[in-house]
Amino acid sequence: MSGETGNEGFREFLDRLRAERELVDIERAVDIRHVAALVDQSERALLFHNVIGYGTPIVSGIYRSQRRTALAMGCATFAEIEEKLRRGLERPIDPVHVERAEHKEVIAAGDEVDLYELPVPICSIYDGGPMITGGVVIARDPEFGLNAGVYRCLVKERNLTGIDINTPNNLRLYAQRALEAGRPCPISVSIGVHPFDIMSAGFRAPLGVNEMGLAGGLRGAPTALAPCETIEVPCVAGAELVLEAEILPTGWVWPEGRFGEFTRLMGGLHWNPLVRVKAITRRRDAIYYSLHMPWENTWLGAPTRYAAVRAALKNARVQVRGINVTIGGCAMWHAVISVSKQAGEGKNALLAALSVMDMKHVVVVDDDIDVFDPVDVEWAIATRVQGDRDVIVIPGARAKPLDPSLPVVPPGTVPTGAKVGIDATIGEGIPRERYERISYAHADTVRLEDYLGGGDERLPGVAFAPADGIAALARRIHALIGEAPRYYSEIAAEFPGFDFQSIARAMGKLHEDGTLWQDPRGRMCLRDSTFAARPPSRA
Ligand SMILES: Cc1cc2nc3c(=O)[nH]c(=O)nc-3n(C[C@H](O)[C@H](O)[C@H](O)COP(=O)(O)O)c2cc1C
Repeated sequence: MSGETGNEGFREFLDRLRAERELVDIERAVDIRHVAALVDQSERALLFHNVIGYGTPIVSGIYRSQRRTALAMGCATFAEIEEKLRRGLERPIDPVHVERAEHKEVIAAGDEVDLYELPVPICSIYDGGPMITGGVVIARDPEFGLNAGVYRCLVKERNLTGIDINTPNNLRLYAQRALEAGRPCPISVSIGVHPFDIMSAGFRAPLGVNEMGLAGGLRGAPTALAPCETIEVPCVAGAELVLEAEILPTGWVWPEGRFGEFTRLMGGLHWNPLVRVKAITRRRDAIYYSLHMPWENTWLGAPTRYAAVRAALKNARVQVRGINVTIGGCAMWHAVISVSKQAGEGKNALLAALSVMDMKHVVVVDDDIDVFDPVDVEWAIATRVQGDRDVIVIPGARAKPLDPSLPVVPPGTVPTGAKVGIDATIGEGIPRERYERISYAHADTVRLEDYLGGGDERLPGVAFAPADGIAALARRIHALIGEAPRYYSEIAAEFPGFDFQSIARAMGKLHEDGTLWQDPRGRMCLRDSTFAARPPSRA
């Protein structure tokens, strides 16, 4: 296989990480209970070759930085991933179904299934057990067809897990429909797949759209899916290992978790269905991938949110300048968007962005605001927002049950929550000149270096007007502002031969004479001219 992302598999990707000094091989024997803490301390991905008591190595942390995620996607920068995703979404390529797959070198089915042989680590001190975190779960619904997602499964028995389908996503719907029909919902869990496959699975495509088409779009070639041995659902052909399983029609009645979440918090105890593992198929020398929460989830998920927000805004026909799906918002719940708006589009942009996935809080700003500068954004909120006019609250919307601020609901029910939009664009009917920024006179001509030594020591060539010259200068200024109003600084610049004090005195004289006035923008003009501002009349 080539070193290009187009045709490479999981292992070639690991090789590239290694070559980029982003992955370290650890030969020393490690206790599996120490793996998560070690990954957390590491700047690089870790591949533990010798996990005490297990014959399978563990790799973890492979997407735990923006750089590694960009490398994974074959992009020069993290920001570039969004564009790649967009192209993949525009040109999806359907998967191909192949008969032969490397991960079927060893097949354990029925009673031979033993999940405890796999090096599945426990991560946080509150975890409810060893947790399979990095599997691409493919399911089939009789009506909607194939669906792919990433779902964590907690190991409960040698052939039994849970599956965290607490959130109202497509797999949950598939499992719900199967439950109502009284049948199990077959799933394959492919572990150790190429980055294109796992990132695509994390993308929430509409119901009935198989995310593996996006994976094909990303690699510019179809993703190879292989049949499973025991269920009528395919799996990712290049995987390191695959669990063939069924979500049992138990309903959401089994306690599962807790899990460390993308929120950087521990989730609560979840109520989930059980999953019976019917077979494990694997490469003889399989490498187990343990996805480390929360940052691997964050960096895999963030580009898909960018793509989804941009697509929604495009649909809403809003001209977007910048999008920041913020890290403080867990790369999931917050977006700051700058737009070149026409009247009312601040609100349209809010509605479009808030419709995306689980987006919770959105701020829309004008295109003079840097969406990546939190101070700039807050400044826009401070100076452009009236809460009663510009803050939209939409109660009862789809929410992510992992949001710890949601009200407590009975087990098995999905809570709804509020979406909030802040339109921090300059409001309609508000004069633009209220937003003229301070810009210093002569900023483009003076240079501080000249005053810090080494510069031109000569004094600027200014003349001091004699005391009796002030009246003459005042007459010249009178003539100048009689033609058109001028800012004070423009007047001062207009007479470079005079020192500023003389100009200020001449202006003072015009004021004393009662002829100096200002136009509505604050420029100096003659009091009796048509330019002159008039005081507001008293009601
Ligand atoms: C690393 C990772 C782990 C995830 N774990 C879960 C999970 O345990 N439960 C869940 O509901 N969603 C999880 N997700 C989110 C879903 O995979 C994602 O929402 C997906 O788009 C759902 O697809 P679907 O609606 O087509 O089923 C995870 C995403 C990633 C990237």
